[in-house]
Amino acid sequence: MNEGFETLAIHAGQEADPHTGAVVPPIYAVSTYKQDGVGGLRAGYEYSRSANPTRTALEECLAAVEGGARGLAFASGLAAEDTLLRTVCAPGDHVLIPDDAYGGTFRLFAKVLERWGVAYEPVSIGDVDAVRAAVRPETKVIWVETPTNPLLGIADIAGLASVAHDAGALLAVDNTFASPYLQQPIGLGADVVIHSTTKYVGGHSDVVGGALVAASAELGERLAYHQNAMGAVAGPFDAWLTLRGLKTLAVRMERHCDNAERVVELLTSHPKVTQVLYPGLPEHPGHEVAAKQMRRFGGMVSFRVAGGEQAAVEVCNQAKLFTLGESLGGVESLIEHPGRMTHASAAGSPLEVPADLVRLSVGIETADDLLADLSRALG
Ligand SMILES: Cc1ncc(COP(=O)(O)O)c(C=O)c1O
Repeated sequence: MNEGFETLAIHAGQEADPHTGAVVPPIYAVSTYKQDGVGGLRAGYEYSRSANPTRTALEECLAAVEGGARGLAFASGLAAEDTLLRTVCAPGDHVLIPDDAYGGTFRLFAKVLERWGVAYEPVSIGDVDAVRAAVRPETKVIWVETPTNPLLGIADIAGLASVAHDAGALLAVDNTFASPYLQQPIGLGADVVIHSTTKYVGGHSDVVGGALVAASAELGERLAYHQNAMGAVAGPFDAWLTLRGLKTLAVRMERHCDNAERVVELLTSHPKVTQVLYPGLPEHPGHEVAAKQMRRFGGMVSFRVAGGEQAAVEVCNQAKLFTLGESLGGVESLIEHPGRMTHASAAGSPLEVPADLVRLSVGIETADDLLADLSRALG
C-alpha cells in the first residue's frame, strides 16, 4: 500500500464492521469469547488480555502510521517501556539512555530496572561519536528520545541506528514528542518505536496509553508474547479513544507547529527570555538533523527566564490560557516548570533540568490569544 499518512490514520485496521457496517470500530467491552468447540476460536479471539478487536484496530493503525511490522497498545507509555525492556534485556545487560529524557523514563531505569540487574548510563545522544564511545559489549539497547523532554535536544536517528547495529544492539526511539506524523524512526533504521499515546496520538488529554511499534515481525512477536504474559494492555475504551484521536493527528500537528512557530517568534524577541529551545530555530545545535528527519519541528517549546527559578515559577503561575499542568500534546495549551513538576524525579541526577526552565505544550487555540496570554504572564 502506498497510501498517504492521513488515509492510513483514518482507515488502517478500521474496515467497516462486518456485522453492522459501522464505520468506526465498536468498543468491544468484553473479556471472553464464545468458542465453536474446544479450540474453535472465531477470528482468533479468546480472552481480551491476549487480544481485543478494538485494541487490534488501534494496534494495526499504529503499525501502519509508523511504517512498522507490528503495533501493540498498552495501559500507559511507561507500561510499554517496561514491557519492551523486560522483553529484550536480562540481568547483566546495559542500556544507554539520553542525558535529557522524560523523568519517568529515568526513574524506570534508576529505581526499578537497576534493581533487576539492568545497568544504564546517561549519554549525550545528540553526539553520535559520544554514543559510539559509550557502547559496551553488554549494551543491548540504545534508547533515544528526539526531540528530548524537556530540553528539545535532537538525536540523529539514522546515525545512531548504525552505531547500535554495529554493536549488535537495538535502537529504541521514543517518538512521543514528534508523533508519527512528523517523524517515522523505523524508516530511518530504528528497531522499535515507543509512544506515550497519552500525548499527541490521543491528542485530547482524555486518555492515558502507550504503544510499541516493532520494525520486524520477529521482534513484534516477542513483544506481543510479553504484552500478554505481563498484562499491561490498553482496555477497549482507552483503545477506542486513542484511535479516535489518531485519525486527526495530521491536521492537529500542522496547527500545533503553526502555533509553536508564532510562540517562538514572540519568545525570541522578549527581553525576559534568555534562551528559547526549539529545533526549528537555525541556531539550535540539532536544527540540521531535525530538518532532515522531521516533517516540521513540533508543538513543544521550552525557554529559560531571566531571574532564575522564582521568575520561571511566576510565569507558570501567571499564565491563564496556558493551563498549568503536566503532560503535553493535547489540543489545549499547557505550561509547566519541569524542575518542580515532570522532572522532579531527576533532581540530583545527571538528568536534572535547569531551574529557570519553562516548558510549553502549544495547543491549537487561536494563536493571537496564546501570544497575548504569554506576553501578560511574562510581564
Ligand atoms: C517522552 C515521554 N515518554 C514516555 C512518557 C510516559 O508515558 P505515560 O505517562 O503515558 O506513561 C512520557 C510522559 O510524559 C513522555 O513525555
